[in-house]
Amino acid sequence: MLTIENLGVRYGGIEALHDVSIEVKRGESVLLVGSNGAGKSSLINSVVGLVPTAAGRIVFNGKDLVGVSCPARARLGIGYSPEGRRVFSSLTVTENVLAGTTGIPIAKAMANLEWIQKIFPLLVERADQPANQLSGGQQQIVAIARAASTMPKLLLLDEPFLGLAPVWIGHISDAIRELQRRGTTILMTEQMARPALKLVDRAYVIRNGEVRRSGTVDEIRDIALAEEYL
Ligand SMILES: Nc1ncnc2c1ncn2[C@@H]1O[C@H](COP(=O)(O)OP(=O)(O)O)[C@@H](O)[C@H]1O
Ligand SMILES: [Mg+2]
Repeated sequence: MLTIENLGVRYGGIEALHDVSIEVKRGESVLLVGSNGAGKSSLINSVVGLVPTAAGRIVFNGKDLVGVSCPARARLGIGYSPEGRRVFSSLTVTENVLAGTTGIPIAKAMANLEWIQKIFPLLVERADQPANQLSGGQQQIVAIARAASTMPKLLLLDEPFLGLAPVWIGHISDAIRELQRRGTTILMTEQMARPALKLVDRAYVIRNGEVRRSGTVDEIRDIALAEEYL
């Protein structure tokens, strides 16, 4: 579904990613694990179209994404939950979720809202509450629901556990599993290898902008956990 070949990303003189190749197959969940500054967000953002690629190719369902705008990538079926659980703080929970469906016909958007509300009961319980009245964990659920509200083929989750207490890491993990059961393909990043490895089929260890190791969860567990404590 997603093939990244020899990707390079630069910010001026800083090379954030160098010769990175990653594959995500349909129905798979894949983890990018690495410490702060490793290049995880740069990779996710280059798939979304928020940062330009300096080298290499990103191919999604056979289509080369270079030159394709962010909204067009969303229409192709790429959903994105950014790092730091960005929600629109003065908008209600429902408004936040519907904000993800911009550009989708209203009847379809409402159908998607109902679909996502069935997956995340919180969205119904807190429907009319402004997002800034929610806890960090609740906001993360809203951010993931917004990203999933277009029913994306590929869902990108950038550090969904960042700053959350273990109980909320558990709730977010349940939410991710529910999306997996419904057939969503996922590429996620995390610094916290331990809980993230429970959710995925394969992982890539990324350090200083390069892929250091990749493999199934069993193959990669030890090195991924070591990376967590660097
Ligand atoms: N907008 C930017 N301008 C300059 N340097 C950046 C920018 N974003 C990220 N970087 C640098 O690129 C490297 C990778 O960052 P990032 O992709 O955010 O890593 P991670 O998400 O793994 O923490 C870091 O050295 C970081 O300082
Ligand atoms: Mg990041």
